[in-house]
Amino acid sequence: MSSPTVQTAAGQLEVGDGRTGKQYQIPIVDESIDAIHLRNIKTSEDDFGLMSFDPGFTNTAACRSAITYIDGDRGILQYRGYPIENIAGHLDFMTVSWLVLHGEVPSKAQRDEWESTLTSQCQLPQEVVDALERLPRGAYPMAMLAAGFAMLGAVYPDARKNKTEDERWVHARRLIAQVPAIAALAMRHFNGKPYPALDPSLGYVGSFLASAFGDTPNPVLRDALDLLFVLHADHEQNCGTHAVRGVASAESDPYLSLSAGVGALSGPLHGGANEAVLRMLREIGSVDRVPEYVENVKAGKYRLMGFGHRVYKNYDPRARVIKQAAERVFEVTGVNPLLKIALELERIALADDYFIKRKLYPNVDFYSGLIYEAMGFPVEMFPVLFAVARTTGWVAQWLEFELDADKKIARPRQIYTGPLNRTLPN
Ligand code: SDX
Repeated sequence: MSSPTVQTAAGQLEVGDGRTGKQYQIPIVDESIDAIHLRNIKTSEDDFGLMSFDPGFTNTAACRSAITYIDGDRGILQYRGYPIENIAGHLDFMTVSWLVLHGEVPSKAQRDEWESTLTSQCQLPQEVVDALERLPRGAYPMAMLAAGFAMLGAVYPDARKNKTEDERWVHARRLIAQVPAIAALAMRHFNGKPYPALDPSLGYVGSFLASAFGDTPNPVLRDALDLLFVLHADHEQNCGTHAVRGVASAESDPYLSLSAGVGALSGPLHGGANEAVLRMLREIGSVDRVPEYVENVKAGKYRLMGFGHRVYKNYDPRARVIKQAAERVFEVTGVNPLLKIALELERIALADDYFIKRKLYPNVDFYSGLIYEAMGFPVEMFPVLFAVARTTGWVAQWLEFELDADKKIARPRQIYTGPLNRTLPN
């Protein structure tokens, strides 16, 4: 893992403050300005100076990173500079996991060694299995995953030893190796079935499927899940990754940092959208009810789940690949009857001015749930599948953050709107 700091200075911003008539020159570096320079723009010496106001970070870079590149206007996604269209269907998840973590495509030997390193330590500590299995049946799988990560940090005595790269890689391998086991246990527990430990001989994805379903996985379905993991591996500074980096910025251990990432990812506006899409398609129920549903969305009654994206103002390139993968899965499982409703929703939305004007297109979550359901996963497991894949990205982002020369504890400012200097009531 290398430090992400590449700085390209290019000119300066000339700013005039109309309140004082003063002129300011703010350096432009990497097509951005360092917000701290705004503090110099004041009306008097005891003035705090200006802040930028950006709830939701719609136009604020929190870091430099060399892992994933997105051009939202053009629908471009690249892992370490490789376009997702060239990766998907050509590199499997173990290869992509190495690529995202190390920055280069591994040799076959490196890829195979990575998979055996992970599967050789895929078993969960028994204390974690016992604790998770004491939760009530039907316990929400994403909450179990968040708890599972935190419990790993409770059980491993070295969890808070992460000052050196070697120490950090111990946690990196452990988290990526054991997330499939927590996910499989969460699914078995949700279904009220005993948890069979993973069989390392079946590989990273195969051992997860075999434990989750208690059966030897169909190779077509295993390959389809592998492709979905590839597409979900990383996605630059999304809400979940921001949570991971934010918690890690306080020098918290990576187990609690990733537990925070799971919490953020579980939300229906984020990774929980794949679950929300399925529930939406079930609620619509038939193709002839789609127009009414779309009208209710346009009236602001609810959102079209699986549509829209903070960065993509074009078709999410991952959604395109997933839509194609669905056809291969349905050859094995039979077509998911909800597919027709999803296709009609997309057809109507892409032709409707409400969505066109707001640049709302299908995102990664719109079609993925149709595949997961056809494979037999309960809808509550869909965000967990997203998290299993994203654990590689979270770990890569954490490792990069730890080497970042600019890293600081995350502590945003605020614009205070409340009262001041009040007198206590008698
Ligand atoms: C993921 O960031 C990532 O990289 C995330 C992710 C990853 O890989 O990590 O890509 C994974 O989280 C994908 C997104 C999954 N979420 C959903 O599908 C939930 C539905 N989508 C939205 O709620 C929304 O589009 C967000 C949350 C994804 C993005 O929200 P923004 O960027 O804050 O946009 P916004 O809420 O300010 O919306 C802008 C306008 C608003 O209308 P107006 O007020 O201008 O009239 O677009 C409308 C919104 O009402 N809008 C939608 C809509 N999404 C936005 N209207 C209807 N349906 C929607 N889905």
